[in-house]
Amino acid sequence: MADRFGSAALRDTLLERLNTALPAVVAPMFLVSGPDLVAAASASGTVAAFPSLNARSTEELDAWLTRLSAGHAANRAGFAVNLVTHRSNPRFAADLAACARARVPLIITALGSPAPAIATVQGYGGLVFADVNTPALALKAARTGVDGLILVCCGAGGHTGTLSPFAFVDEVRRFFDGPVVVAGGISTGGAIRAVRNLGADLAYLGTRFLAADESLAVADFKDMVVASDFSDILATDAITGALANKLRPSLIRAGVDPDSLVSGRKFDLSKLDQDTKKWRDLWSAGHGVGAVTAREPVAGIVAGLRAQYQAASDR
Ligand SMILES: Cc1cc2nc3c(=O)[nH]c(=O)nc-3n(C[C@H](O)[C@H](O)[C@H](O)COP(=O)(O)O)c2cc1C
Repeated sequence: MADRFGSAALRDTLLERLNTALPAVVAPMFLVSGPDLVAAASASGTVAAFPSLNARSTEELDAWLTRLSAGHAANRAGFAVNLVTHRSNPRFAADLAACARARVPLIITALGSPAPAIATVQGYGGLVFADVNTPALALKAARTGVDGLILVCCGAGGHTGTLSPFAFVDEVRRFFDGPVVVAGGISTGGAIRAVRNLGADLAYLGTRFLAADESLAVADFKDMVVASDFSDILATDAITGALANKLRPSLIRAGVDPDSLVSGRKFDLSKLDQDTKKWRDLWSAGHGVGAVTAREPVAGIVAGLRAQYQAASDR
């Protein structure tokens, strides 16, 4: 029999351990998720994550974690920090140490192997979930001893996967018994319920929270998200070299003709207006963007998702 990884027992206790009322994680988003969004989600009973690099320095990260830890102690849902483990991140070691000091309940690794985070995080009793977008990467991550896997499927905001969640969850369940999180185009409570029906544990929602009052996204980005639907999303690898879902209107606004982008050929960034930065002004959103129809506080979004989840479960 093939090797098996992950703890089935952890799946049974996961929701209690994270103290979450909704089987969902508000996903980390560069330049969007900060302590206000995470604290509001946590107070509404839902785990939320932010990328450590959204704090301008490890000192600022320490301050954010002190605030969030105080909320966590006040019996709110757990929270999570997203760490880029790739060697191109010079803050990795210092940010990991800050997370260890704050005993962050859940660390989400991205862009690199989870291995460098595991001993430290599991050592203080935290969990490590690895963000992966293919079954091969999922197996590689499972072998390092991660607690959970986040399957980034097709339709995700930011860097997206290409697999259908129906196939991806089944592939991963062939070798992994621990918690599985599904990402990509999930913006409703019904879709969160569907993730549970697939045999996964949590849904991962980014786009649904882009236009939240507490999101750090600039006002024009929030308005574009509210005005957009599925037809405004373009999957392209021409901006960063990795496949990402982008808002077509943000490309047009920055002077890039979305229809001129060619797969496999990097867009010549020198053509961008001098004040435009690809990571700041070419905005990302996923296939579920049509579900965002207003700017709203996080508490309202979570309450809506919980009501939809309950209705779908009753059905
Ligand atoms: C604007 C934006 C920024 C993102 N930044 C990050 C990031 O810094 N780190 C990361 O691991 N994922 C990032 N993501 C991906 C999300 O964590 C998550 O995988 C994705 O939003 C889920 O798909 P959905 O947007 O369709 O819900 C980003 C997504 C968006 C929309």
